[in-house]
Amino acid sequence: MKLNSTKVYETAYEIDVIIDINTRHSSLLLGVNTINGELLQLFFGEKCRSSSPKVPRGVVKPGSELYAAYSAFGGAETDVALRATHADGALSTELVYDSHLVEEEDSNRTLTTIKLVDKHYAFSVLLSYRAFFDENVIECWVSITHEENEPVILHQCPSVELTFVETSNDYFLTSLHGLWERENELQEERLYRGKKVLENRYGTWSSFGSNPSFMLSLGQPSTEDSGPVVAGALAWSGAWKMTFNHDAGRLFYDKADRRRLNVTIGASEFAAEYHLAPGEQFSTPAFIFTFSSNGRGTASRNLHRWSRKYCLREGGDARPVVLNSWEGAGFDFDESKLLLMMDQFASMGGEMFVLDDGWFGNKNYARNNPSAGLGDWNANRTKIPNGLSSLVNEAKTRGLRFGIWIEPEMVNPNSLLFEAHPEWAIQQPDRENVLYRDQLVLDLCNPKVEAFVYQSVAAILSDNSEIAYVKWDCNRSITNLGSTYLGFDRQTHVWYEYVKSLYRILDRLAVTFPNVMIQMCASGGGRIDFGALGRSHEFWASDNTDALQRIYIQWGTNYIYPAIATGAHVTHCPNKQTGRTTPLKFRFDVAMTGRLGLELDPSVLPERDNVYVKAAIEEYKRIRPVVAFGDLYRLVSPYGNDYCALMYVSDDKCRALVFAYNLGHRLQHEHEKLILAGLDAQQRYRISEINYRDDKRAIDFDGEIVAGSDLMSVGISVDVRNEFDSIVLELHSI
Ligand code: GLA
Repeated sequence: MKLNSTKVYETAYEIDVIIDINTRHSSLLLGVNTINGELLQLFFGEKCRSSSPKVPRGVVKPGSELYAAYSAFGGAETDVALRATHADGALSTELVYDSHLVEEEDSNRTLTTIKLVDKHYAFSVLLSYRAFFDENVIECWVSITHEENEPVILHQCPSVELTFVETSNDYFLTSLHGLWERENELQEERLYRGKKVLENRYGTWSSFGSNPSFMLSLGQPSTEDSGPVVAGALAWSGAWKMTFNHDAGRLFYDKADRRRLNVTIGASEFAAEYHLAPGEQFSTPAFIFTFSSNGRGTASRNLHRWSRKYCLREGGDARPVVLNSWEGAGFDFDESKLLLMMDQFASMGGEMFVLDDGWFGNKNYARNNPSAGLGDWNANRTKIPNGLSSLVNEAKTRGLRFGIWIEPEMVNPNSLLFEAHPEWAIQQPDRENVLYRDQLVLDLCNPKVEAFVYQSVAAILSDNSEIAYVKWDCNRSITNLGSTYLGFDRQTHVWYEYVKSLYRILDRLAVTFPNVMIQMCASGGGRIDFGALGRSHEFWASDNTDALQRIYIQWGTNYIYPAIATGAHVTHCPNKQTGRTTPLKFRFDVAMTGRLGLELDPSVLPERDNVYVKAAIEEYKRIRPVVAFGDLYRLVSPYGNDYCALMYVSDDKCRALVFAYNLGHRLQHEHEKLILAGLDAQQRYRISEINYRDDKRAIDFDGEIVAGSDLMSVGISVDVRNEFDSIVLELHSI
């Protein structure tokens, strides 16, 4: 038998080949340890100047804290990013640096690709990092290939591994949690020793339970404008996992109290082993991250700017004011009701009429409730005798564009589709199908199903070529994970192949129908992630339209995702979800901080309200560019306060909007003092209150001109003393 050679557990480092992944204000530095060939993460944080002591050079003593840029299970490493079983059954992988390539994609984007190879097997890992210089954002992903004789099993391969080493300090995690109708509640916690795992195994809903994003404050809890913060989000609409492992790091002999935080983020590996054939490439979802040395406000704004420019479809175009039929009509409508809604909405200055659920399925499978019709995408001739194209024309004659709701990934057992193809649903043999909302998930892993889903949507859009908007819904998660198409040894591929197929469908539709807007919806905010957003124009933030609760939902959501994409609708009161009644102005003031829409029956509004709605829509259209393209500044959090406030400031700092809300009555409530942010200290601004009702104003300095420096130091006083009082101020530099 051949004897293995030996090596000591830890060697010294001798760093060479330093790879700088730079943005305007941040640096990620990687380097190769020439002693053993390992690629190490040297530093991630505030921009490094070339002579910075942050870059270790020469021999480094044992005990120094340097960790692999992408660790693998093998050799001395046990708690790692990558784990694979090689074709010969070996469990271990040892990756060494092979080469790297830096490509300037344009004046703002640089792609660095680093090739790591196994010391023994024909197995390679490509680490890709795309740096967006002005936005201070890095996008990274991992691709794996091999030339072994048989498939290699990938057990885990996250999109990123980042290691933070703060010898005397702590880590604080901010994450977003919630379910249907209570999405994206902020949770803040100190990370104690041990592993904190956030994971999602819904398969179709990336952002129920937890959202695949976080902010991590290093050393101290950050505020809006102070402290080092890393913010990141996984661009993946399926199951995912984020692990924050706070431990002592490597087994060294010195006595330093080390506090290492190792972070790995990627698609969930649970029941998801991937059998990678020789020559095939497996690519992980992308992870998007940014570093801010001055608090979480900058981190949010970096992600917002990046997502508008590089992620969202048409992120530079303002979104239309929508009337969605769901809360106003539900399943119970006919053509005349829809035309009446359109008439009223058009007279209010609306722009896009969206027909929600209930318009399809026929005879026994007519969609009059959630129990039938999904899969049968033909207009219901009882409700819409003249078909969709007639409705599209009716909207057009009223000066409105037309949008439609679909849920194409799903099937009701009560449908012609299921009668013809029961094998197209995700299922396990010899197990009962588990219904949820009376429906099953279609098996997109099957190419025939993928083609069917694409064709169903394409047919609706080409038969009715002026449909301008699609609300793409997804109302259940995956259970009974299994595919009648994939072989017995590929069943664990469903998680991954499902999302890849969904993305192919959306990408194809985007090419064929480039002018059709997509709203991502998944029972409300179940699919708010940068993977879905990269294939859509906006998302439906929540089925909860209660304006008070929406303040919290939108506050959390906009930590990561931008206002331009945040669908926010004004609905009837008492609110359908909570029974709460709030003033119409309050509802508008909340919805106007996102993409404003209505979701009510405008034909039943009293005339007084009609007049206000019309004026508010007109006002919104005027301020829309500042909300859509401005920078968000969070002034007073709704968490722990009885009121809250936020601002949007235009890129040139000439225009700004201030929104403030009273969240609940309390005694001896005084006028609130708001210290503004994000303005140009050198400029002077005229302040006007807008969107007020019945001539009731909340400030007594309307029209006054105040220096930006004073607004950001002395502040202003606003009267939002009663429950659900709210105010919108517009600032113009003069
Ligand atoms: C989901 C969506 C709602 C609505 C209904 C229709 O719940 O989130 O907005 O479209 O489906 O069934």
